[in-house]
Amino acid sequence: MHFPEYRARRLRRTETLRSMVREVQLDVQDFILPFFAHHGQGVKNPLPSMPGHFQLSPELLLKELREPVERGIPAVLLFGIPEKKDPSGSDCYSKNGIVQQAVRRIKDAYPELVVITDVCLCEYTDHGHCGVIRNKDVDNDLTLDLLAKSAVSHAQAGADIIAPSDMMDGRVGAIREALDEAGFEMTPIMAYSAKYASGFYGPFRDAAQSAPKFGDRRSYQMDPANSDEALREVSLDVEEGADIIMVKPALPYLDVIWRVRNTFDLPLAAYNVSGEFAMIKAAAQNGWIDGDRCMMEALTSIKRAGADMIISYHAVEAARILQGDAKVSRKK
Ligand code: PBG
Repeated sequence: MHFPEYRARRLRRTETLRSMVREVQLDVQDFILPFFAHHGQGVKNPLPSMPGHFQLSPELLLKELREPVERGIPAVLLFGIPEKKDPSGSDCYSKNGIVQQAVRRIKDAYPELVVITDVCLCEYTDHGHCGVIRNKDVDNDLTLDLLAKSAVSHAQAGADIIAPSDMMDGRVGAIREALDEAGFEMTPIMAYSAKYASGFYGPFRDAAQSAPKFGDRRSYQMDPANSDEALREVSLDVEEGADIIMVKPALPYLDVIWRVRNTFDLPLAAYNVSGEFAMIKAAAQNGWIDGDRCMMEALTSIKRAGADMIISYHAVEAARILQGDAKVSRKK
């Protein structure tokens, strides 16, 4: 196919033609929307680095869910901000923990909505690390028990999917075993399989008040330079019983999404994290980019790279555009 016989521009002439040959189309069904459940009542704290997002107490979270549910966003991902933090993160596995309370309320009000709970201790520990500390580092095997307890506790509260994000070795297997023993053999695990030690989690750590008080997460989260290792991490999670695998963050790791997509046939999620969201918002607020247009382009790139599910703070805004209630500007 050579010019002038083949002219790529022929099929780009009109929007209708372009839409007929479009290879990837975002859909509201693709999205999972994260929420920050805050202890107490009447809490709706805006998050300055994440415009449009809040820390919400359970009853206000229910209100905030109305639009995403009406728009058909199939799932939410819950994080918790507990009243008290302690060295072992006990709110994460307590019957009356903040996530447990929120899950019960949400499942009661919106039984069809898929509620995914993030299982990790960093939001619940007073030191901000994702596990218990021994000898100044996170102790892997001691942490596994607490993660497994948390997963069971979330499932008992009504969680539909358990999503471990801690990056301890062996946690998917430990959680699977504990869920099965507790009678939750039908509860799927969405594993944060290739989760990188990333600067793009900055706004999230303010939102969840979960920044580590000393050191960093590089002894358990992945080195940003590695993608062979991502395949090893994913294959371990698959062997241990993961039902859905995940790459996180998304945009700086599209190559990893693509490699995982081409190596494994499990459903694949990608997490378009807080810093990716904040960058688009900040540049748009400055008038430096067209925010809606860049948002849709970024989300499309994640799907094009091979993600089946996109966890994103943009989910509601993107849904408004996809459903024709807001227009992406076609100028320029
Ligand atoms: C918990 C967790 C984090 C994110 C999701 N789960 C933060 C971290 O690992 O420090 C980040 C999500 C985001 O930035 O949107 N471990």
